[in-house]
Amino acid sequence: MTDEFVRLPHFVSVKDLTVDQVMKIIHRAQAFKRGTADFYLRQPVYAVNMFFENSTRTRSSFEMAERRLGIQTIPFFPQASSMKKGETLYDTLLTLGAVGCNLAVIRHSENEYYNQLINLRPDQHLNVGILNAGDGSGQHPSQCMLDMLTIYEQFGHFDGLKVAIIGDLTNSRVARSDMQMLKTLGATLYFAGPENWFSDEFKAYGEYCDVDDLVDMVDVVMLLRVQHERHTAGEDDQFDAAAYHKQYGINQERYDRMKDQTIIMHPGPINRDVEFTSALVEAPKSRFVNQMQNGVFARMAMLEAVLRGRQLGGLE
Ligand code: CP
Repeated sequence: MTDEFVRLPHFVSVKDLTVDQVMKIIHRAQAFKRGTADFYLRQPVYAVNMFFENSTRTRSSFEMAERRLGIQTIPFFPQASSMKKGETLYDTLLTLGAVGCNLAVIRHSENEYYNQLINLRPDQHLNVGILNAGDGSGQHPSQCMLDMLTIYEQFGHFDGLKVAIIGDLTNSRVARSDMQMLKTLGATLYFAGPENWFSDEFKAYGEYCDVDDLVDMVDVVMLLRVQHERHTAGEDDQFDAAAYHKQYGINQERYDRMKDQTIIMHPGPINRDVEFTSALVEAPKSRFVNQMQNGVFARMAMLEAVLRGRQLGGLE
């Protein structure tokens, strides 16, 4: 008998997910969105949300998802924690596990910070399920799942869809997660933006094009935030927001050239009038608000996968 649920011990990357697992998570997220998912925790579950980098969407929607699933959330403030006294991330998780936390949602500036928490030595016994809320320029699996849900809602499939990813590719964990997943799901990828942000890593996934050659051809325009906080001072001194908007941004003229069914996505936060003309952020082809709404349901499905994978809350 096939299992309708995904079961994972941790959810830290999209790299190893199968098409079957992704589609089950999407369908489960849709069921949570419709209010038809049969879900009930029979035993208490406790989660801690640990954000070592700033966040509005990911943090609030994980917390909303936890509350909607009946998970109790435990506050954690990095600046007020004993990590300021030198306690390691591992020892902090060991502490939170010891006091009863079952799950930790973590955003951290270090790529693959989660390896030390999930690939344990024989002498280590940490027993907390880790959900990665973004690691440096590595992965952003929950953004990826909500993006896939948003695309699936529009088109009902991925196979053969043409997707343009435009912007600050080098620094983007969203680009990395989404390009890996979209390739797995059968979409065709194109990249655009400043050419020095397009490296060999991206060539393996799709070709580099001019924005103006893409907008009337693709089904999905995925804009990336220019991540000033990850640029060197010299790089950022040379950045010209108006010039970027003119050359790579979605403005009214490019918007009008897109097909009626084409959708524009942005993970947020948006640099208005840089990646996207401000007046178009809530325009009919934009899915910016839908993405944020879908973030709650995609994260509910991800949390459920780890709850089931760890048999928490009386779930099997
Ligand atoms: N997209 C995203 O990760 O947004 P936040 O940084 O606000 O969580």
